[in-house]
Parts: sequence; C-alpha cells; structure tokens
Amino acid sequence: MLGMSRREFLLGTSATLAASTATYAFANKALSADLQLPLNYTSHEIVPENITNQMMGFGTDGPAPTIRLKQHQKLSIDVTNNLREASIVHWHGLRHENAQDGVPYLTQKPIAMGETHRYDIWSPDAGTFWYHPHCNTLDQMARGMTGMLIVEEPEEVGFDQDLPLNIRDFRLGNDGQFVSLFTPRLAARGGTLGTISTVNWRQKPTYDLTSGSLVRLRLAVTDVTRVGTYQINGGQAQVIALDSHPVPAPLPATDVLLSPGQRADIALRMPEREGETAKLILNTLAGPRLMATFRAVGRSLGRSMADLKPLPNNPVKEPDLTNAEILDFTFGWTPDGGEPLESICGSLGYVFWSINRKPWLGDTPGPLDPLAVMKKGKSYILRLRNNTPNDHPIHLHGLAFKLLRSDKRPLPPLFTDTALLLSDETMDVALVADNEGDWAFHCHVIEHQKTGLTGYLRVE
Ligand code: C2O
Ligand code: CU
Ligand code: CU
Repeated sequence: MLGMSRREFLLGTSATLAASTATYAFANKALSADLQLPLNYTSHEIVPENITNQMMGFGTDGPAPTIRLKQHQKLSIDVTNNLREASIVHWHGLRHENAQDGVPYLTQKPIAMGETHRYDIWSPDAGTFWYHPHCNTLDQMARGMTGMLIVEEPEEVGFDQDLPLNIRDFRLGNDGQFVSLFTPRLAARGGTLGTISTVNWRQKPTYDLTSGSLVRLRLAVTDVTRVGTYQINGGQAQVIALDSHPVPAPLPATDVLLSPGQRADIALRMPEREGETAKLILNTLAGPRLMATFRAVGRSLGRSMADLKPLPNNPVKEPDLTNAEILDFTFGWTPDGGEPLESICGSLGYVFWSINRKPWLGDTPGPLDPLAVMKKGKSYILRLRNNTPNDHPIHLHGLAFKLLRSDKRPLPPLFTDTALLLSDETMDVALVADNEGDWAFHCHVIEHQKTGLTGYLRVE
C-alpha cells in the first residue's frame, strides 16, 4: 500500500469509480474497520423519471460499492444494520474461515437491527467474487443488496482498465415501484423473473473507454433468478476466467452461459476508431437484449490481446479421483410438503424443494444434520442428480469444486463454486475438503433456496 492512500487502494482504477458512486468512510483509529458497510434503505432512478422507493443497499446511496482487495490481503469490514429487519452478509466464493461466511445459525447469529458485526475477510484466490445477504435473502437481494468483490492478482496482467458489471433484474411496475417479488406458482417452477434488466443499476448504460485499449470486463450475475447466455458484439473479446478461476485457454465470448451467482471475466480489446462500439448482449427467449455499450473514445492505444499475460492459476488442490469417495445428492421436490419455519430471517411461507428429500429453508435455525460429513484433506466426488424439470445453479460455500462429467453434455474441466445443473441432469464434480467448517450448499435461484433447496456440508 506504499505511496497510496487506503481509499485509492481499495477503490482501484477510475473505471471502478465510474461504476460505483459509493463513498467510503475510513476512520483513523486502529480499532475501526478498514471499511464501513452500512445496510440502508435507499431509492434510485432505474426507470427514467420514476424514483424506485423501498430499495435496500449497502453504503449510502446507489448501487453497492465494489470492494477490492489483493490476494491474501486481510480486510476488516464493519456491517451496521440500519434496516428494520435482521440481516447478515455472505462473501460468495471466498475460501476463507467458516466463521466469516455469513450464514445465519450455521456460522453466526443474524445481525439484528441496529447492530454492527465485524467481518475479517481474505481470499486465497484472485478473481471476481461478490457479496449479498443470507437472511431475508429474497427480499434484501431483490431490493438491491448485491455487490461485487474483486480480489486482484499480485501482479498486473496488462489491462488498461477494469470494469465491474453487476448484472441483475428488478421487478418493477411501469411506475418504477416494486411489484410482488415472487409468485408461489413460479417459485415451485423456474423462479420469478424480474421486469427490468440492469447493469450497475442502470438500464443499457454506455461506458466510454479508450479506443484500442484492453479492458477487463468483470461480469457478475447477481440476479435472484435469471439464467442466460451473454455475448460481446464488436471489438475483440475472450473469456479469460469463469467464477473467479482462470480458464486453461481463452474461450470465445459468444455464448457465455451464466446463472445466478456466476461470473465471467472477459478481455475486451476496444475498437480502433473513436465512436465505434462493442456491446454486451443477453440472449433471451424473446430475442437478444442490449445490456451495455462500450464506446471507443480518444486516440487508439493500439493494444493487442497478445499484450496480456495469462492469469496465474489459483491455489486450488487437484482432487485425487482414484481414491475419492462418492457422495450422492438428489435435488427434488419436497416429499410431503412440510411446514415453513418462521425465523427472524423470514420465510416465503412455502416448502417446495429438497436435497436428499430433506428441505431446509436456508435462513432458518433447524434441527438439521449436515447432508454429508467430509474428512479434512480427503477428496470427494459429489454426484449431483437433478430430479426436477427445472434448472438449478448449485452453489457450495467455502470450497471450490471441479467439473468432471455430465450425462447430458460435455463439461470443461473447470473449478467453480456455482454450477448450473440442467433439468434432469446428473453431474459429477470433485473437490478436496481442505477448508474446515459447515458450508452452505444450495440452489442460487433464491426462491428455491428459501423454499427448501438448501442444506450444508461439514468438513471436519
Ligand atoms: Cu451466493 Cu449461499 O450464496
Ligand atoms: Cu456463497
Ligand atoms: Cu433451483
């Protein structure tokens, strides 16, 4: 941090500043945290000329601040809950200590209104991560509480700019106000989609970026429901990392399937001439949807993709497949309905889903055993079987797993924390159980998570 104020250090490049209007309050006393992250009610103009009220956010106003830290750097964050309900903050993808993971009743008590809780986070891996509440999860995420967390490689890989893109929907009516955040009918199926797609809380934003420069686009799908394929039209673009882990060789940025919780780092070489554009497109059933425009400005920097160094690999252990024990998980309906459990972290009032026939409502205390107990240091194959006609992005906290095979399609041998399990698909993934604790394991379609599709795995 030599020669840099802490503020500059955390905020990083000016591109980050442009993407976030947040301000940080840093105190000078040793006892205060590096970062203050208040949870607040807010309002914002998402639909032109209509201020959306009853939004929830991190910080004072606008979209959640992008938090940046270096690989292995420790960062203390004071979360003060100014909401009139309980909350908790989870750092999605970080393989850090279980006590910092932010899951109610599993790793800590919910943060009551008016309370401050200190998190001490760090990451052994570099890459694009994000953060969100894990209490009253549907309400709080749907109303705005999703932010990006960037862990920087120790050395620059050669980009001129770095642009986080927080991609999500809001369920708003024509007047810009929230409509019901879910319907039970859809919660029992694919989940309830939003009505307005945004990038950094803006509809179809345009970013001015230097002509001929190399830009690292960091896409994070923080939406509660939407699965989609993304592509870049214009310029030259390659996928260089997925879910924070570098891909062995760059992939074309033409058909990037991302489900809730997933991320993609895309190297974009901006068009050469001023005024030319590259566009981020989401392909929906209704056709392509423009998400963001990157407009070339100024004299060309004349950079080329070949100027980029490959991203260093993260220190994830290779599972030992010959000695791995197989653990079976079946994602399905709830066998016999079941009663929703009330807790201060809220309930949607329904139980639809289960893992291995056990529903857990995720944010509730419960007499619930771990779905599996893994021995620290041993390798496991998780056999994920989807017994439903819906897709489920399956997310495991605190550990990275490797995609092995599917009975429906070829799978690239990538490490991830969130894998999209297609309808009726069976997928094998493998991991080394090298991080101790109780790790939440759930579908990242939040309505599914909140109505039973949750459990946890223990490493001891
Ligand atoms: Cu991003 Cu348990 O979640
Ligand atoms: Cu997570
Ligand atoms: Cu699901």
